[in-house]
Amino acid sequence: MNTLKHLFDRNVIWAESITKNNPEFFSALSKQQLPEYLWIGCSDSRVPANQIVDLPPGEVFVHRNIANVVTHTDLNCLSVIQFAVEILKVKHIIVCGHYGCSGVKASLEDREYGLVDNWLRHIKDVARFNANKLRDLAPEEKNNRLCELNVLEQVVNVCNTSIVKNAWENDSELSVHGWIYNIENGILKDLDMCITSMDELKEKSTWIE
Ligand code: CO
Repeated sequence: MNTLKHLFDRNVIWAESITKNNPEFFSALSKQQLPEYLWIGCSDSRVPANQIVDLPPGEVFVHRNIANVVTHTDLNCLSVIQFAVEILKVKHIIVCGHYGCSGVKASLEDREYGLVDNWLRHIKDVARFNANKLRDLAPEEKNNRLCELNVLEQVVNVCNTSIVKNAWENDSELSVHGWIYNIENGILKDLDMCITSMDELKEKSTWIE
């Protein structure tokens, strides 16, 4: 029987290290969560939301999937966005991609990986929408550029959800950001895609086309 005891041991040490500095930390947090941020990122084990921005439990509401994709009919992702925006009233939604994303790389290949190929079709679509920007690039550059373009596309998809549109119509303070993370040096880059209203979305989504 393999019960992963070492992970439970690590857990106890971690919990003790937090309560040593702040004995009330977990009891206070157990009463409510008030995160300001919703993070939509890649499932990649090298891109852990809280650690990258150095925030403790309670500060970031998180949704992760392969290649940080936001599709218009993904009930899982849409439910996370709805709960975050309408119930938790987060102020910021961050779509964070990363360079060297295996999902993005796989979408540029012809190889078959199985079920996941259907998910990666969404990124193939992003490549198709942006074919003129990718055409002349060398393979690595193409990969990196598609990682960035995928983030921009997913930001637009977040903004076009009925949830975000309604929030803006109701004058809620809500910004949607596009970021990318460099797994080689641990540094985040702002893709200069911060949308705070429908007008701004129209302006910027013309720019990305
Ligand atoms: Co990835």
